[in-house]
Amino acid sequence: MDDKAVAKLIAQEEKRQRNGLELIPSENYVSRGVLDALGSVFTNKYSEGYPGRRYYGGQINTDQIEQLAIDRAKALFKADHANVQPHSGAPANEAVYHAWLEPGETIMGMELSHGGHLTHGRPGTISAKLFNFVRYGIKDIETGELDYNVMQELALKTKPKIILAGFSSYPRELDYGKFQTIADEVGAVLMADMAHIAGLIAGGVLANPFDYGFHVITTTTHKTLRGPRGAMILSKGRVGNPLKEVEKTVENLPTLIDRTVFPGLQGGPHMHSIAAKAVAFYEASQPSFHEYCLQVLANAKALSEALMKSGFKLITNGTDNHMMVADIQTSFGFDGQVAEKTLDRIGLTLNKNVIPDDPLPPYRPSGVRLGTPALTTRGLREEHMILIAQWMQQALMSKDDEAKLDKLSKEVKQFASSFPLPSDL
Ligand SMILES: Cc1ncc(COP(=O)(O)O)c(C=O)c1O
Repeated sequence: MDDKAVAKLIAQEEKRQRNGLELIPSENYVSRGVLDALGSVFTNKYSEGYPGRRYYGGQINTDQIEQLAIDRAKALFKADHANVQPHSGAPANEAVYHAWLEPGETIMGMELSHGGHLTHGRPGTISAKLFNFVRYGIKDIETGELDYNVMQELALKTKPKIILAGFSSYPRELDYGKFQTIADEVGAVLMADMAHIAGLIAGGVLANPFDYGFHVITTTTHKTLRGPRGAMILSKGRVGNPLKEVEKTVENLPTLIDRTVFPGLQGGPHMHSIAAKAVAFYEASQPSFHEYCLQVLANAKALSEALMKSGFKLITNGTDNHMMVADIQTSFGFDGQVAEKTLDRIGLTLNKNVIPDDPLPPYRPSGVRLGTPALTTRGLREEHMILIAQWMQQALMSKDDEAKLDKLSKEVKQFASSFPLPSDL
């Protein structure tokens, strides 16, 4: 690369990733195959439209690569249709809302501080300005069980057009069957935002919402799915001509969604990213990915147990998936931001996070969120989780002791750098 400034920053970032331990649950390390596709000549091509129906010439290869990504995504998740064009998770959710709702109509989603994502109606977002969000939450903070009775009452009262299951900081499995019963009662479309757990569903270790009557699943492709930054929308229903107007029926959701993504929200698809999605879907269909997912869950269990033994209060006292939320304020007497900074200092990367009904503000919340997808990709196993919990506890107990933090930082670096990045292989 001629551009020395950029080359230097890429090399520095690679070193940071190699020498540290990545605990942010929404991050992962992609394979060389995904990186190669992302850096391929598909980045040069404009392909507005969909396979076989484009607004530009020269689509012989782009049509095939997009169709390959679509077919692989459908097979992985048992979907009738896949739109692989959304540039990221936020526009994917936006597209579904706009495909099905008129302004002012109601979406029922998870309380944000209980785990719901910003795109599930945080005040200030475009969706919150356009649509009416009502919320369900956790009934018992010690187990994480949702309040399905309150959810049902609220649904009967507010008649949501979409019931949204999904989260970015909730460590337990949802009871999709209960969502289905409530949605049937009020005639709502069932949407799952599986951004965090899509890989674990594809890998066959967590339940697939399509097995419980869900109509739409949105997901990012860069978290547990281990693909490029991006997203997709999977749906059940009849697949029509995406460029034609159709009636607003549940059967027509695939076409309504296609039309909303393009030309509704986006212009030309990012074909290099779609090529990389196709690679990631291929990788996720391999037996080794199932093994990877089992290890992600085993590591999360081991880490949650080790953390609780080391004095961390975990929200819901454990995890069923890849992620944990720790109440740092209760455990150590300072907030999540201080914890994030202290752990960053020794090479453990995670993020500050609100806890349910957090008394502290979101920019200085009580908790941190952490998870095991990236660590597992590096090759770490249960025994290593005990080490990580100990490093975390020691660092937070000695957060003002520079010499101690230096020592821990060296230990983490030596340990982390002995595990290759998958792009080395
Ligand atoms: C549940 C959920 N939905 C949507 C998104 C948004 O994805 P993106 O950051 O790609 O826009 C995220 C990202 O963290 C998420 O966790």
